Amino acid sequence: MNETIDTNVTLVPFIKEDTVEYLKLANEVEVGKFFKLAYCRNKSEANDIIDLFTTSEDYIAFKILNCKNQFVGAIVGEKKEKKKTIEISYFIGKDYRGRRYCENAIIEYAKHIAKNFSQKYRCLEFCISIINYSSKKVMNTLGIKLAYTRGYAHYRCPVKNLI
Ligand SMILES: CC(C)(COP(=O)(O)OP(=O)(O)OC[C@H]1O[C@@H](n2cnc3c(N)ncnc32)[C@H](O)[C@@H]1OP(=O)(O)O)[C@@H](O)C(=O)NCCC(=O)NCCS
Repeated sequence: MNETIDTNVTLVPFIKEDTVEYLKLANEVEVGKFFKLAYCRNKSEANDIIDLFTTSEDYIAFKILNCKNQFVGAIVGEKKEKKKTIEISYFIGKDYRGRRYCENAIIEYAKHIAKNFSQKYRCLEFCISIINYSSKKVMNTLGIKLAYTRGYAHYRCPVKNLI
């Protein structure tokens, strides 16, 4: 009998001490130049990126834990105050894909923004490589609409539509 997978996730602030564990998760070279966190070719690069996410006020970064408290991925948003928008990037470790963790992490992220920054940020934006079918699938499942395509596919959604 197939084991039922619990797709629930918890978001926990991404801190610098998570770097080593994150590197284990993302040790493959991803197709993902489009994704800052996935584009960690070596330790030093990853350290620089994680330094930025964990120290700059411009980012809100979380690690994604599954129901067994395993570190399965990360979701990071860059604040764009003038546009009242947060630009989201995400990454799920190879061994944990296909379990709806990404969709649920986006929903949890939207809840966090609605609770803490409802006046400041109204929309989430996602910039996706046009060949990233898994990511497009995530957008479609969540009902997030394609806003425009310029090099990348740009998806956009009001925070309130996700919660
Ligand atoms: C894109 C990504 C975040 C999707 O996360 P996920 O939690 O696996 O998403 P889901 O479980 O909702 O699966 C979405 C789709 O991915 C595909 N998928 C499923 N299992 C997969 C696996 N083991 N490996 C790759 N893709 C898989 C399927 O098309 C699936 O849709 P379907 O189940 O309706 O057929 C993840 O593949 C990833 O981190 N990729 C590398 C980094 C990246 O692309 N980041 C996005 C940049 S914006």
